[in-house]
Amino acid sequence: MSLAETSLAQIAAAAADRGGPGFAAVVESLPDPVLVISARDALDLADRRIIFANLAARELLRIQGEGVSLVSAIRHPRVLEAVDESLFGRMPGEAAYESGGAQERFWRILTRPLPEAPDGALLALLVMRDETDSRRNERMRADFLANASHELRTPLASLTGFIETLRGHAKDDAAARERFLGVMAAQAHRMARLIDDLMSLSRIELNEHIAPEGRVDMVVTVLDVLDALTPIAAERGVTLQAKLPPRGAAMMVGDRDQLLQVAQNLIDNGLKYSPNDGVLEIEVITDAAADAAIAPRMAGGVRLSLLSPDLAGGERFVILRVTDHGPGIAREHLPRLSERFYRVQGQKSGERLGTGLGLAIVKHIINRHRGGLAIESVEGQGAIFTAYLPQLS
Ligand SMILES: Nc1ncnc2c1ncn2[C@@H]1O[C@H](COP(=O)(O)OP(=O)(O)OP(=O)(O)O)[C@@H](O)[C@H]1O
Ligand SMILES: [Mg+2]
Repeated sequence: MSLAETSLAQIAAAAADRGGPGFAAVVESLPDPVLVISARDALDLADRRIIFANLAARELLRIQGEGVSLVSAIRHPRVLEAVDESLFGRMPGEAAYESGGAQERFWRILTRPLPEAPDGALLALLVMRDETDSRRNERMRADFLANASHELRTPLASLTGFIETLRGHAKDDAAARERFLGVMAAQAHRMARLIDDLMSLSRIELNEHIAPEGRVDMVVTVLDVLDALTPIAAERGVTLQAKLPPRGAAMMVGDRDQLLQVAQNLIDNGLKYSPNDGVLEIEVITDAAADAAIAPRMAGGVRLSLLSPDLAGGERFVILRVTDHGPGIAREHLPRLSERFYRVQGQKSGERLGTGLGLAIVKHIINRHRGGLAIESVEGQGAIFTAYLPQLS
């Protein structure tokens, strides 16, 4: 009987003790890769052999069966050290491990000594824990903090600079003082808006898993936004062309303030990127299927769904569609638009430099409402943003 058979026999025996074939099957189907490693000779590296590998481990390490040498499956020195610690030091070990391939994954490897085999071989257990997601989240959090600090520091640096100037050579220059104070007010305003948006984003994320409960009319929501934006549109000569059903026709279950933010951000972006004297189209469509919301509308346009709801079939949606005739967005930027702080470089947005948080907020809100968000654009011709949200039937 080979060493491998001995230990598998042990496992099987243990399973039988517990009243059935369950135990071996459980280990085999554990989603985490699990190995049992045996060794006799501490000095012979090739002597560490994998005498058991469950399905997840066999797939990850691409090993056929038992008896394979450990170093041929995992070369990472820190992992081998951890294994030795358990085999020969009879102590728990731990190591980080990155598996390459098409998809890089980060693993935490834990090793534990196992009771010696009857033939005197030393045994150790090796369990792999997938930490790819938590690593990614950590990195995103770090990026987010770095971005947020950078965005706040820029206007702050400008404020500090102007304070210096006002204390110094501009002290007695009334005209310059007036001008600088104007710039300072704008920078302070920008910082305040950034903080508002950040707080709004974290609030939305906190309750993203709690279904909204209010009743909202998308038409009334859009009319509120249009009222607020009319003066800015007039200043720029932009015509706001609204095609809306009657009040009461576009009822949804939702959070009023949040849906207002969605309409506000999409229409505000459309206006911001509309050329002076252009036309911005705002449309609300009721009783639509999801397919209708994402159907192509521009000849030669690039399209992307930034968010799609889970569909059981037969759902009806209220669509909010904002169509502008501005610079549009190139294909390579589309997937990143709803990332926090992402702005297309070198794009003219008039005077109103945004924070790059608007679409991130929109996406989280729509997600909470179980809706979808799609973009379509032709560079140089404009962009269409389509939000669709479950209609109250
Ligand atoms: N209608 C549009 N046409 C062209 N580009 C757009 C349009 N809407 C958004 N974008 C691009 O997407 C980026 C992200 O938009 P988002 O609304 O998140 O940020 P913002 O408008 O820059 O700032 P904020 O909305 O926080 O004031 C914008 O900076 C812009 O580059
Ligand atoms: Mg915006």
